[in-house]
Amino acid sequence: MAVGIFDSGLGGLTVLDAVSKRLPRVPFVYLGDNAHTPYGVRDAGDVLELTTAGVAHLFNAGCDLVILACNTASAVALRRMQEGWVPRDKRVLGVFIPMIEALTERHWGDNTPPREVAVKHVALFATPATVRSRAFQRELAFRAIGVDVEAQPCGGVVDAIEDGDMILAKALVRSHVDALMRRMPAPEAAVLGCTHYPILGGVFQDALGPEVAIYSQASLVAESLADYLVRHPDKLGPGNRAQFLTTGDPEFVAGTATQFLRRKIEFESVRPG
Ligand code: DGL
Repeated sequence: MAVGIFDSGLGGLTVLDAVSKRLPRVPFVYLGDNAHTPYGVRDAGDVLELTTAGVAHLFNAGCDLVILACNTASAVALRRMQEGWVPRDKRVLGVFIPMIEALTERHWGDNTPPREVAVKHVALFATPATVRSRAFQRELAFRAIGVDVEAQPCGGVVDAIEDGDMILAKALVRSHVDALMRRMPAPEAAVLGCTHYPILGGVFQDALGPEVAIYSQASLVAESLADYLVRHPDKLGPGNRAQFLTTGDPEFVAGTATQFLRRKIEFESVRPG
């Protein structure tokens, strides 16, 4: 009954942590494509090719449902995968929609026309590819009117986190927040639109100030997955073993992952595709 979790690297572990706390009996198979991270500076074709290879590997590992715990893949590749690639008996879900539903005060399946919502000024921090895709603004416009979104492409942050260079990662976060706040001085809400960023959630909050509400993607995705599995129990695949897989160097990846999650994690090496 395994469920797959895919990310370009270590960021998806923030989602894995939340979903495994919410659904402790489900074995999750995590795949980080650390050999090809970051995705956020790649073009759409590249992201699609790498993401399909990773997801195909998770299908073969006994997962009928895979969560793209990567905003870049969710924004750039998911729709094309769902339209022509995902087999009928499998599902691939992204991490964008639960966040947008929370921001626009909607429940799953509410397809009523867009309406005014409480939040009017939203700061979006994401990778360059996610910002370029405008997927966040598009999904928001289907559900809400009158919301002003200021997006900051946070170049370099994923690379620094993956390298374990937290001093550089923190400095970059501060300078990206500063750049955004020069354009939008008083956002009411901030969306950390990259699953790596909650690792530096405290730095974002500190730089934004205590009055800015940061939306936690991981816990929203966990609730939405729990709800999905109640509606689709058949999507718990045949796999029965939790695993941590990486296309990168398993020892290096395990070291960085252990530092972020503050518990020991062993990774196995895989070569999808
Ligand atoms: N965690 C991925 C995301 O949520 C990072 C993408 C990247 O590799 O640049 O967008």
